[in-house]
Amino acid sequence: MTQSFASRVVAWQTAHGRHDLPWQRTRDPYRVWLSEIMLQQTQVATVVDYYRRFLARFPDVRALAAAPQDDVLAAWSGLGYYNRARNLHRCARQIVREHGGHFPPTSQELAALPGIGASTAAAIAVFCSGERAAILDGNVKRVLARWLGFDADLARAGGARALLERARELLPQGGIEAYTQGLMDLGATVCLARSPRCEACPVARDCHARGEGAPERYPVRSRNASRGRRESVWLWLQWRGRLWLQQRPAGGVWPSLWSLPEYPDFDALRGATAGWPGRGEALPAIHHALTHFDWVLHPRRWTLPTSHSGDGLFVAGEPGRWWRIDDALSLGLPAPLRRLLAAETPLAAIS
Ligand code: ADE
Repeated sequence: MTQSFASRVVAWQTAHGRHDLPWQRTRDPYRVWLSEIMLQQTQVATVVDYYRRFLARFPDVRALAAAPQDDVLAAWSGLGYYNRARNLHRCARQIVREHGGHFPPTSQELAALPGIGASTAAAIAVFCSGERAAILDGNVKRVLARWLGFDADLARAGGARALLERARELLPQGGIEAYTQGLMDLGATVCLARSPRCEACPVARDCHARGEGAPERYPVRSRNASRGRRESVWLWLQWRGRLWLQQRPAGGVWPSLWSLPEYPDFDALRGATAGWPGRGEALPAIHHALTHFDWVLHPRRWTLPTSHSGDGLFVAGEPGRWWRIDDALSLGLPAPLRRLLAAETPLAAIS
C-alpha cells in the first residue's frame, strides 16, 4: 500500500530536507518567531545574516522590547517590508507587558499578537510546542495545491479557506515538526514555482498536477490589478561630508525610515533649489519594485560650498538634519538608498 502523503514528506525531510538553518534545533520561541517573521517575504539566503546580527543585537524578547524603535528599524534595514519590524517590536513589548516575557504556547494565542498571522502562528506552535497545526504560506500553498489538484482561486478568501481545510486533513498524527519543515523545504527546493523538480519529489507519483502534465498551472490565483508605476526625484544634498536626511512619515512607503528629500518632478526640485549656492549633478536613475508599484527614482546630487553655514535652506517635506555618512549607514534606510550610499562612498572622503 502507498505510504500516506504525510509519511513520505516526513521521510523525505529526514533524509533530504534542511537541518542546519540557524533557527532550527531550538524550541526557543523568540528565535523561531524572529526567523518566521524575517522569512515571511524574504529568502532564506538573505535572512541568515540578518538573523544572526539581529540576535546578537537583541538576544531575547526583553532586549528587543527595551530597544528604541529606531534601533530596531536600523537592524532591519535592507530586509524591506518594514511593517514587519514595527510589528515585531510592538509584539515584543506586548509579550513583556502582558505575558511576563514568555510567548504563549498555542497557535490560537500567538495569532492574537501583532504581526503574527495564522500560518506564522502555526509554524511557531509546531516548532516550539509540537502542536498539530497547519501552516499555509505561499510555498506550502503551491505544494498542496499541486498535489491535490486544488483548482479553487486562492486570491479569494473562500479558496484559501478550503485549502486550509484540506491542509488540516493531511496533518500526520506524529512527526509534525519534520512534516511542517518538509513542506517548507519541498516548496523551497523541489516544488518550485517555475520548472519544478518533480524527479526529486517524494509525492510525485500521485501528484495531481503532475498527472495532468502541467504542474505550473497550480496554484490557481486570479491576477491582481496591474502594477502601477511612479516617478520621483530625490535630492542628495551634501555639505562638508554630510548628507541631509529626513525621517519619512509614519504612514505610506518606508514609514519612519530616514531618506533623501523627495520631489514629484524636476520642476519641483528646481523650484526648491533656486538660488542655492553650489552645483547639482544627475546620478543614474534607480528602479525599485515595491508591492504595488514600480518606482523610478531620479537622484540629483547638490553640493553646497564648504563656506556655507549649512543652515537656512528650505528642504521639502519632513524635518531633517545633517548626518555624517558613516552614521547615516547605521540608520534605518530604504534599501535603494543604502545601495546608493554604498556606491557613492567617495562622499565619505569629502570634508
Ligand atoms: N520559510 C518560512 N519558514 C521557514 C523555516 N522555518 N525554514 C525555512 N524556510 C522557511
